[in-house]
Amino acid sequence: MSKIEIGNKLPDYFKSLYPEEFQLFSHLETTAAVPQVLFAITTWKENSKPNVCFHSWSCFHGDKTAFFAVMGCLYQNTHTYTNIKRDKCFCINFLPISFYDRLVDTINNNGFETDEFKAGGFTLKNCSHINAPYIDEAFINMELSLVDMRDLSGAGITAMVTGKVENIMVESAYALDREKRCSKDGFMFLVPSVQNIITGEPSQSAIATLNIQRLD
Ligand SMILES: Cc1cc2nc3c(=O)[nH]c(=O)nc-3n(C[C@H](O)[C@H](O)[C@H](O)COP(=O)(O)O)c2cc1C
Repeated sequence: MSKIEIGNKLPDYFKSLYPEEFQLFSHLETTAAVPQVLFAITTWKENSKPNVCFHSWSCFHGDKTAFFAVMGCLYQNTHTYTNIKRDKCFCINFLPISFYDRLVDTINNNGFETDEFKAGGFTLKNCSHINAPYIDEAFINMELSLVDMRDLSGAGITAMVTGKVENIMVESAYALDREKRCSKDGFMFLVPSVQNIITGEPSQSAIATLNIQRLD
């Protein structure tokens, strides 16, 4: 094996994909480019308009007493951060890649007065265990109560938000086995922009679905 090491300091030869890329992201993210599952966070805004936030950087785990979602990097300047801080709950909605463009529509129509369910053409239903809306088109919805919000870097830019899962709804067509969840109709992933570690050239990020190779 022949390894190339990249440390904490942004290498001089790393080129950014767009001017502010390394103002927003660490070069270590484009060095590792770990794929992350994509989903939508839904909450209420202060004016009772429903909010949708397309989101990645997260993981899901727990022990026999509880199951948690740890959203490693929620930008503090989003409505979602303000809404979760105020209402102490949020809903996570997993949608297939066919909804990608509609989720991006909720980013492009992101005003305080905007009904972001309407912006994305989503059907709004009310969660039963928490005070949040959910996207009916999602194949899995998770209702979560807030456990912790922590600014890991201390820079006031992002926060690690941990929620405890109180209830899960699974669309019946996805209830039987892994087939649909692990197909183009199932979980979608963000493959972050991969830096060429030799030349420093940037690349676009990509959206992926699962293709099972073997069973465990
Ligand atoms: C593929 C993709 C992944 C994203 N992942 C995140 C994320 O993990 N954390 C985050 O704060 N914003 C993420 N964003 C940006 C938010 O979706 C965007 O800032 C959104 O408009 C915030 O919505 P809000 O202000 O209504 O809460 C992502 C955007 C895209 C397109």
